[in-house]
Amino acid sequence: MSPATPSTDTQTPAIDCHYANGQLALDGVALEAIASAVGTPTYVYSRGLIEARWRAYDAAFGTRAHRVCYAVKANDNLSILRSLGLLGAGFDIVSAGELARVLASGAAAADVIFSGVGKTAREIEYALTAGIGCLNVESTGEIECIAAVAGTLGRPAPIAVRVNPDIDAGTHRYISTGLRENKFGIPIEDAPALYRRIVSEKWLEARGVACHIGSQLTSSAPIIAAVQEVVALMEGLEADGIELDHIDVGGGLGISYQDERPPSIADLVAAVIEVVPERYTIVMEPGRSLVGEAGLLLTRVEYAKPAGSRNFVIVDAAMNDLLRPALYEAWHEVRPCAEARLDEPGVLCDVVGPICESGDWLARARELAVQPGDLLAIMDTGAYGFAMASNYNARPRPAEVLVYGGDFHVVRPRERTVDLFAREQEVLIEK
Ligand code: LLP
Repeated sequence: MSPATPSTDTQTPAIDCHYANGQLALDGVALEAIASAVGTPTYVYSRGLIEARWRAYDAAFGTRAHRVCYAVKANDNLSILRSLGLLGAGFDIVSAGELARVLASGAAAADVIFSGVGKTAREIEYALTAGIGCLNVESTGEIECIAAVAGTLGRPAPIAVRVNPDIDAGTHRYISTGLRENKFGIPIEDAPALYRRIVSEKWLEARGVACHIGSQLTSSAPIIAAVQEVVALMEGLEADGIELDHIDVGGGLGISYQDERPPSIADLVAAVIEVVPERYTIVMEPGRSLVGEAGLLLTRVEYAKPAGSRNFVIVDAAMNDLLRPALYEAWHEVRPCAEARLDEPGVLCDVVGPICESGDWLARARELAVQPGDLLAIMDTGAYGFAMASNYNARPRPAEVLVYGGDFHVVRPRERTVDLFAREQEVLIEK
């Protein structure tokens, strides 16, 4: 049983999560065994699938010069970063904190790209001192800041300009980034003048052009349209004597949460390769498509509360643990971990958490047969799950478990309640 092996060259490796001996298991490890040992709520990830997805990206490039930089924001657990780093991944980060995590996982700063609209001078200094691979800049103000910091340090700053091509990625408006109305990037038509300015600065080194039009994209067409615009820009710059070595096409490939049919990793990469001249190294920054389907959130049912036409299934996970439904009305499949429940007649249920807000729901209007004490798996939560978790309602964040080698390993122990206020106690006012 090897979920890591794609059945054809162009198929994206899929998760191995099915019932065995009456219990839902991930890569052959029963989820009930994990929940009994570690408690709930707990995020569980398949290392095998994360690695297989990364290899699918890497292999799809064949002999083309490329760099697959994992977008750390999707899931910044150190063991996941280390697993990917060991395979040769680069990393895409958006904060000093993410850089610190990547370095703590054992990776080199030279393999890191720093994206984001609001890098502070301190973050820029930290990144340059560490030897960052590239800063993707998003405004003239940031370019001036980088030039000043680099000059003070006496270290040249490798940069790429993130351009905004004004292309509709056709995704949720909160995660669309390539439209003029979004705060991201520099209007593509302003880029040539900016590059002329950059090459005239002593401490700036123009290395490439970057673009990222959004997340959870289910069609490659807008990505390819954006890449074509960037290539045209690069060719124009080249004609002006400005040589660049890479094109960063961003991340954004979607996954199937419900019935979406995104292109396979291989097909997307093939389409990108086709429109980028060979002399440019292609950089990609995938997040969700590497880790999203490789993770699930285990939660235990506390109460089943009938309420008119529907039941509320009150579980021990909440919007602080998994924010996507509350924030984007995102749909995540809910599976009972005991197979026997599938044979029982289901009722219409809303799966909700204990937090004092009606927005605290994880799934709505699902046909489920559940009883208090049941274990549920909320699927496809490996990306932007734990990463967006908070301590709202003074709730400790979940444990994180990585499954590999036929066993499970706690890669982040559950937060303790005392962890939440220990620093406040240090400065507790006296009266
Ligand atoms: N590169 C840049 C510059 C980005 O802003 C992002 C994501 C990525 C790469 C990775 O995109 P991905 O391959 O994961 O689509 N919290 C939201 C998603 C926010 C994505 C933000 N940027 C969600 O839960 O759907």
